[in-house]
Amino acid sequence: MLVLGLETSCDETGVALYDTGRGLLAHALFSQVDIHVEYGGVVPELASRDHVRKTLPLVDQVLHEAGCEGADIDGVAYTAGPGLLGALMVGATLGRALAFGWGVPALGVHHMEGHLLAPMLEDDPPGFPFVALLVSGGHTQLVRVDAIGRYRLLGESLDDAAGEAFDKAAKMLGLPYPGGPHIARLALQGDPARFDFPRPMVNRPGLDFSFSGLKTYTLNTVNACRAEGELSERDRRDIARAFEEAVVSTLVIKCRRALVQEGLKTLVIAGGVSANVNLRSTLERALAKESARVYYPAPLFCTDNGAMIAYAGARRLQAGQADAADTPLRPRWPMEELPPLTAGGAAG
Ligand code: KG4
Ligand code: ZN
Repeated sequence: MLVLGLETSCDETGVALYDTGRGLLAHALFSQVDIHVEYGGVVPELASRDHVRKTLPLVDQVLHEAGCEGADIDGVAYTAGPGLLGALMVGATLGRALAFGWGVPALGVHHMEGHLLAPMLEDDPPGFPFVALLVSGGHTQLVRVDAIGRYRLLGESLDDAAGEAFDKAAKMLGLPYPGGPHIARLALQGDPARFDFPRPMVNRPGLDFSFSGLKTYTLNTVNACRAEGELSERDRRDIARAFEEAVVSTLVIKCRRALVQEGLKTLVIAGGVSANVNLRSTLERALAKESARVYYPAPLFCTDNGAMIAYAGARRLQAGQADAADTPLRPRWPMEELPPLTAGGAAG
């Protein structure tokens, strides 16, 4: 089954073609970062307008790259939520119109399910059941995954998402949006011994997160350095390092706790922050000691992309699921509300 996937929930236009027999045939991405950078964050109306301009040309591009045409497509998947409503409407409207024109089913995909299943695109995919850490700009969640569509939320952030915390800390250090990759780059040269940032919530039981205290601590440290003169390059590197270390060790502690609680040995990390090299290597080392293993997507498929939507959509379309043209979009959408792959719950 050949599926066209469209991702337009935020500030990346992602388009991909996934075939259930042959795998990922082509994918294309346009990042709107340059459009939003001067505002220090995503401007929803500008995002929607640019998706209108970019989505169809990217569809043509992937069809051309894969040597396919519209008549070959068996289904269309688009992100139906969570995300910015106007941005979601662009992909959904186009996806439904193409599917109608081609006479094939269309399906709205949950953006976080897309992230969660992105490691399935790799050569050595994880097997069910597993614990997933979803860390993006809008979400920080630990989820028990028994099969596609069988999700149980174990814990989540009570305030900022991990990616949002990276972005805010980056702003304090004068770095552009989105700040995660910039912090990661600076942190590489930072001295981990100079500052000791708090590890939020690790001494409390449970699997929830909170990053707002860490944000305040970062701001106070920046101000303390400023009180002694201009914020130097060395200050910025050391603060970036201390901040990253604090986020990474908090995430690692909670992941290990979740694996122990669920009696599982497989962890999946996905979403933009899972591109963080320090997070990946620290988790790998920590889990190896416990004969557990972490799986993650290729760096390109950690952040928003069309391939993950095409993959998640293909699995569900193949199981016979489809949406009517008037199915509402879901800017907010708890992942636990997703149906399993088959009515009987047998999935995976
Ligand atoms: O999944 P994603 O592309 O979009 C959402 O669904 O939110 O995640 C974007 C987030 C941003 O907050 C960005 O700063 C963060 O992922 N991010 C990173 C890294 N790459 C992207 N955070 C830390 N380290 C990175 N290497
Ligand atoms: Zn995302």
